Amino acid sequence: MARSMSFCIFIALLAFAPICFSFKNNNGNLYPQYYYKSCPKAQEIVKSVVAKAVAKEARMAASLLRLHFHDCFVKGCDASLLLDSSRGIVTEKGSNPNKNSARGFEVLDDIKSALEKECPQTVSCADILALAARDSTVLAGGPSWEVPLGRRDSRSASLSGSNNNIPAPNNTFNSILSKFQRQGLDLVDLVALSGSHTIGNSRCTSFRQRLYNQSGKNKPDSTLDQSYAAQLRNRCPKSGGDQNLFFLDFVSPTKFDNSYFKLLLASKGLLNSDQVLATKSQASLALVKQYAENNALFFDHFAKSMVKMGNISPLTVSSVIVLEDLIACTICLEIVNHGKGIVTEKGSNPNKNSARGFEVLDDIKSALEKECPQTVSCADILALAARDSTVLISWWTKLGGSTGKKRLQKRQFKRYFKLLLASKGLLNSDQVLTTKSQASLALVKQYAENNALFFDHFAKSMVKMGNISPLTGSSGEIRKNCRKINSS
Ligand SMILES: *[C@@H]1O[C@H](CO)[C@@H](O)[C@H](O)[C@H]1NC(C)=O
Ligand SMILES: *[C@@H]1O[C@H](CO)[C@@H](O)[C@H](O)[C@H]1NC(C)=O
Repeated sequence: MARSMSFCIFIALLAFAPICFSFKNNNGNLYPQYYYKSCPKAQEIVKSVVAKAVAKEARMAASLLRLHFHDCFVKGCDASLLLDSSRGIVTEKGSNPNKNSARGFEVLDDIKSALEKECPQTVSCADILALAARDSTVLAGGPSWEVPLGRRDSRSASLSGSNNNIPAPNNTFNSILSKFQRQGLDLVDLVALSGSHTIGNSRCTSFRQRLYNQSGKNKPDSTLDQSYAAQLRNRCPKSGGDQNLFFLDFVSPTKFDNSYFKLLLASKGLLNSDQVLATKSQASLALVKQYAENNALFFDHFAKSMVKMGNISPLTVSSVIVLEDLIACTICLEIVNHGKGIVTEKGSNPNKNSARGFEVLDDIKSALEKECPQTVSCADILALAARDSTVLISWWTKLGGSTGKKRLQKRQFKRYFKLLLASKGLLNSDQVLTTKSQASLALVKQYAENNALFFDHFAKSMVKMGNISPLTGSSGEIRKNCRKINSS
């Protein structure tokens, strides 16, 4: 019975995927195994082409890293940066931040053509950019991280977005921080990601102002070490030599490490946008000091911030269609029986005599163990099952048909909030939402009136809840049976 029910759920989801509506959220539906089935060699292919390019020219690592950054800050990580001008499209490559400096496009062409040979029209250019940035970092000696995948490519570009959203080397600290905040990134992301200037070059034109006329008074920037400034003036004259290249981190220009932060503390940041991290904000300076002292902390924050940046408004397919791709290797559930050293949470006050559905989860888990042993975690099964249940209820509501039943069922979601407004919430914990806080009452009223808003907030909050301290990487395990830890 339980088996046929979960089977039914899956078939229903697959058959009706196109008509089920999708939740869109900030992270879209990105996950590292996205090409696991459709293009299993994708990551390997990207890595091998990047490795060849970096072996040929070490600078390419920084160039590729920068392309991902310049893509993500303009309409999200959607490879809009890679489009050339054509009918209706003005290329972002001609913007101030990119013109005469964005490079590495041939490497991306090489990756793309290798991937098209292996699995045509499967791997997006936006994902290639994200992978190439990670691989470049690793090749230069920096940290590694799992790249969430599944981005799709845009059908437009934004020259003005490229000019306005990407921080410029002579922007003030506040202007740079607000450009990060506009993308949902914070101060830690700003300082950690600026650490990418531990590799790469910059052109004379990007910092000349600091050497000669920083604030319009014909004086060099006082926050720049003066002997370092004199050295720079040799190859960056008042006029001419615009394209002359200088290392951003002259101590270890091709090695990804924390020496960039040490240079900032010694007033030897090359760009104004580098040095202000140490001179214009106490909070920022504190981070610079921590990273200068603790390379592991820098690596850790950098990797996390790269994932965050890679999640800026990606284009994705609906979650239900993604489920189709996931289905062979997805779900498994997290319910632990009494075992050695474990006292089940099923006996807690919130669960005892009320938590149910465990058999359905057992069925899902055993189907998955057959398909791909010890691969899909029980914790992910719980999260997916919660989402699928929500979608199915909505779908059945939508299919209520042309009878009067449809209108009735449609009302059911907001009815809960209407009942609260009528003082008919069943539990105290329901009713207090309208009686104990003006802010909460305001939301209840909004949801009672606007089902779409409730759906939107509900979906977002579910994702947020599902992100509460997950075990990832090498922590935890993939249970064989959701009711037991593996060793027992
Ligand atoms: C920053 O540099 C650009 C290009 O060199 C220049 O047009 C702009 O006026 C500069 N902005 C400031 C605030 O100095
Ligand atoms: C220095 O900058 C100021 C303000 O931008 C400008 O008026 C002045 O002409 C510049 N001086 C030189 C020597 O370029």
